[in-house]
Amino acid sequence: MDFKRSDFPQDFLFGAATAAYQIEGHKFGGAGPTHWDTFAATPGNVIRAEDGALACDHYHRFPEDLDLLKDAGMDAYRFSTSWARVMPDGRTVNPEGLDFYDRLTDAILERGLKPYQTLYHWELPSALADKGGWTNRDTTKYFGDYTDAITDKIGDRMAAIATINEPWCVSFLSHFIGAHAPGLRDIRATARAMHHIMLAHGEAMTRLRAKGMKNCGIVLNFEHSPPANDAPETIAAARLQDAIYNRWFIEAATKGTYPQEVLDGFGDHMPAGWQDDMAQISQKMDWLGVNYYTRHEILPDPTIPWPSLKAAETTLDVTQMGWEIYPEGLKNILIRMARDYVGDMPIYVTENGMAWDDHVENGAVYDPVRMQYVSDHIMAAKHAIDAGANVKGFFYWSLLDNYEWAFGYEKRFGMVHVDFDSLKRTPKASYHALKAAIAR
Ligand code: NOJ
Repeated sequence: MDFKRSDFPQDFLFGAATAAYQIEGHKFGGAGPTHWDTFAATPGNVIRAEDGALACDHYHRFPEDLDLLKDAGMDAYRFSTSWARVMPDGRTVNPEGLDFYDRLTDAILERGLKPYQTLYHWELPSALADKGGWTNRDTTKYFGDYTDAITDKIGDRMAAIATINEPWCVSFLSHFIGAHAPGLRDIRATARAMHHIMLAHGEAMTRLRAKGMKNCGIVLNFEHSPPANDAPETIAAARLQDAIYNRWFIEAATKGTYPQEVLDGFGDHMPAGWQDDMAQISQKMDWLGVNYYTRHEILPDPTIPWPSLKAAETTLDVTQMGWEIYPEGLKNILIRMARDYVGDMPIYVTENGMAWDDHVENGAVYDPVRMQYVSDHIMAAKHAIDAGANVKGFFYWSLLDNYEWAFGYEKRFGMVHVDFDSLKRTPKASYHALKAAIAR
C-alpha cells in the first residue's frame, strides 16, 4: 500500500464494515422473515435465488471474525443490527435477538475495537413489508420503536450510531429501478419511500437523542456522476442524476430541503404534508458516513419518460461488478460534503471496496487489483483531508465475502475470503497489506 498510518491524523480510525443480513445467517436465533427473503425467493430477482439464511454463519462464528479484525490492527468495526432479529414481526421484541447483539457488543469491546452500529441495513420485517413497507408512513414509527429497543440494550456501549444505510438504495433502487427488495417499478411508491426513509432517519434521531445518545449520524451513498459530454441536455441529465442520487438525501438531512427538480418529477406523488417533516429530518447530526465505490458518466435518454437519463458506457478499468475504478471521485465527494453541507462535522468513509473473482490457491488469495484499489482510495481520503475536509476514518467494505444482495454470493468484496461450502475464512493478500500499512 502507498500509505502508512502515520500519514494520517492520530485519531484517524481504520476499520472494516459488514451488515447483518449479509453475514449473520438469518435462520438462527429467532429472526423473523424479511422482504429480502421474499424477494430472493421470486425467480429472476437474485442470482440462483440465494438468500441470507446461512450467509457466513457469523451468528456462530463472530468471535473468529472479530479476531480477524483485531489481528489486522483495526481500530473500529462497523456492523448493523437486524430489525427482523430484534423484532421478528417488526413490533414485538425477541429477547434472543437482543442477547445476540449484547454478546456481539461485548466481544467487539473485549478486542479493543470501537463499535459503529447501523440501525437499518435493509432487512425489513415481512410483516411490515406486507403493509406497504417504506411506502407506508407507519413504518417510520415502528422503526423508532425498534431504535428504542436496541438502544436500551447496547446504545450506551456504541462509539457511534448510524440510522439508515444508503437510503437511495432503500428507496430509488428498490422502488423505481426494482433491483432490490421489494422490487417495485413505481414512481408513486418511489416518492413515498424516498420521503419516508428520510423520515425514519429523523424519527430514529429523535429517539436516540431522547435516550441521550451522542455520535449519531446517517450513512449515504454517493456517486461521482459527471456529464459524458458538454451538450446542454447532457449537463441537465447529469444534474438531475446528482439531485436524485446525491442531493436528495444530504440536502434533506442537513438543510431540510429536497431538490426542486426531483420534486417536479414526483409531482403529486409526494405524500401530503411532507414539508412538515423536514425539521425533524434535518435535526443536527454528529457525523456523516460516506459510502463511495464508483463513477458513472451520465447521458440523456429521451426514451425514458422520467428521469430521461442513463449511465454512459464505461471507459475506465472496472471491478467484478462492472463498476469503474475512480479514486478521484472519493476525494471530490469528501471535499464537496465538507464545503457544501457539513463544514467541520466529522466525516467517515463508512464503505469503500471492490469485488473481484478471488480464488484460494495453495491456501492463499492473491488480489493485487484490490490492494491497489484500497491504497488509491485511502490516499484519496488523505488528499481530501489535506484539502481541509474533516475525514476521521475509513472502513473497508467488507471484512468478509458475503451476500451481495441481488448478486447472491457471486461477487466477492471481502478482505477475507469465505468458502461458502466449508465456511472457512482465508485472509486475502489485501488484508495482509492493509495490516502492514496500518502498523507503520
Ligand atoms: C453498499 C451496501 O451498503 C452494501 O450492503 C453492499 O454490499 C455494498 N455497497 C457493495 O455493493
